[in-house]
Amino acid sequence: MVTKEKAMMPDLGLKENAMTGAVEILSKMLADEFLLRVKLRKYHWNVTGPQFHALHEMFEEQYEALATLIDETAERIRAYGAMSPGTMEEFLDLTRLSENPGNIPNAAGMVENLVSDHEAMVRNLREDIKTAEDNYEDVGLADFLTGYLQEHQEMAWMLRSFVETAGI
Ligand SMILES: [Fe+2]
Repeated sequence: MVTKEKAMMPDLGLKENAMTGAVEILSKMLADEFLLRVKLRKYHWNVTGPQFHALHEMFEEQYEALATLIDETAERIRAYGAMSPGTMEEFLDLTRLSENPGNIPNAAGMVENLVSDHEAMVRNLREDIKTAEDNYEDVGLADFLTGYLQEHQEMAWMLRSFVETAGI
């Protein structure tokens, strides 16, 4: 008889520790994406200065892009048969990024913080991809994470080029 529990456990040809490991990697990434999205919104609302319009728009584009990444990540966790974290408390507990409550940087400071967060994401993802391949032999996860690494690398580049081109 197929119990409900068994029916809900996907059979992906992965070892159990690989499933738990994948969920751990994805949960941390989800929390990081969420924190970064909140930061982008805060900066979108509070940016000032001569480049207000361009930055206000660019921050919006990035938080919209992150909304998609967040949704895909949470649903990917479900595809491993686990429940996704979904509260601010859980995200704060899981994230590797940090917030600066009570602090509103100037436009240059905002861009600098965002570049630094995107690049931290790229570095963490690079480690996670290696773990997915070497420890868990989960090519699907490695491929999924690689797409995210490219997204963050591109977003960091957009911000860096803005500083080079427009100046702040
Ligand atoms: Fe807005």
